Amino acid sequence: MTATRMSIPITKPFIGAEELAAVQRPLETGWLVQGPYVKEFEDKFGRFIGADHAAATTSCTTALHLAVAALGLRPGDEVIVPAFTWIATANVVEYMGARPVFVDIDLATFNLDVAGLEAAITPRTVGIIPVHLFGLAADMDPILDIARSRDLWVVEDAACGFGAWYGGRHVGSIGDLGCFSFHPRKSITTGEGGMVTSARADLIETIRSLRDHGASRSDLQRHTQSSSFLLADYDLLGYNFRMTDMQGALGSAQMDRAAWILGERRRCAAAYDQLLGGVDWLALPVTPTGSIHGYQSYVCLFRPETPDLGSVDRLHEWRNRVMAALEAEGIATRQGTHAAFMQGYYESKYGIPPSRLPAAFLADRLSISLPMYPGMTDDELDYVATAVRAAVDA
Ligand SMILES: Cc1ncc(COP(=O)(O)O)c(C=O)c1O
Repeated sequence: MTATRMSIPITKPFIGAEELAAVQRPLETGWLVQGPYVKEFEDKFGRFIGADHAAATTSCTTALHLAVAALGLRPGDEVIVPAFTWIATANVVEYMGARPVFVDIDLATFNLDVAGLEAAITPRTVGIIPVHLFGLAADMDPILDIARSRDLWVVEDAACGFGAWYGGRHVGSIGDLGCFSFHPRKSITTGEGGMVTSARADLIETIRSLRDHGASRSDLQRHTQSSSFLLADYDLLGYNFRMTDMQGALGSAQMDRAAWILGERRRCAAAYDQLLGGVDWLALPVTPTGSIHGYQSYVCLFRPETPDLGSVDRLHEWRNRVMAALEAEGIATRQGTHAAFMQGYYESKYGIPPSRLPAAFLADRLSISLPMYPGMTDDELDYVATAVRAAVDA
């Protein structure tokens, strides 16, 4: 390829001097867990996405777990989840003894295919967890219409959804609850970390209690109110899903540069759109009218021919050879995410054949995520695009 070989990771969190200084502050004050810096992060985050309430947690998985627990999910209940999503979306339903019902996706957007939603609803269905995969909002209007008409709750899995808007609303402010991830693969990071957002004060109050062992008031409240010597009451069976203040301070510093980070991701995506526009074996990410893509990842579909269940194994091998060729050029790629229902636990418990959820299966086998991070240079973008163009021939 080119003379100078580059080394391009799949992503790189942007950590500047402000973040380095921020994580030290709680260490200096001595308040290390779920204190003032977690509150500061929650306030900034809630304001940014337009949610009245935001409660920080240890990850998006624990955020989702708290969400379904607060909504009273019970053994025997059913919850609709997309078939192509990170396994955590389904796992939190299993944690409660309930059953995830997998619905296929739209291969163009990688998000829940609303056409399959009605048919998946049974008398046991209590809720829907649409996922805003890779930073693109799921089609929330029809999902909410169906949910309202059937009296179902909606928890948005916005793990990848920071910077994603749908009809003028930021994701996570649309359903009953929204859940975000701050893992380093996400647009802003606290190392591990998560957030639950909502307009519903009642649910957030329960979530704040559940994340802290079921306490009736937090340590921060206790220490700023009278009778701080008395412990809280514990009326709920809670968990320890408390974020540390070092993470809160880091998240707060990341929020101060959130607009720039999201702008950088959009710049990278626009460059790829332009540089790879004519590559007919690769379907690039789409953004439906009315949405703004957050580009947590830039995920394409490997499609040298129209894929189907007959050709997928051959195309999968071919895609892997393309990814290996890119790796040989120093370029990291990944499959977009996985088809959760095909992972061992779900395979052995429910045994759903891939032919029942074909689009999720194809996405699992044929998606390619390209490198993207704030500060990625034009030369790096060009290097990746040139290698991608060359890869199929190789
Ligand atoms: C769609 C989706 N949901 C949930 C999660 C879990 O997030 P976390 O790693 O913060 O627990 C992820 C993580 O990648 C995800 O992609």
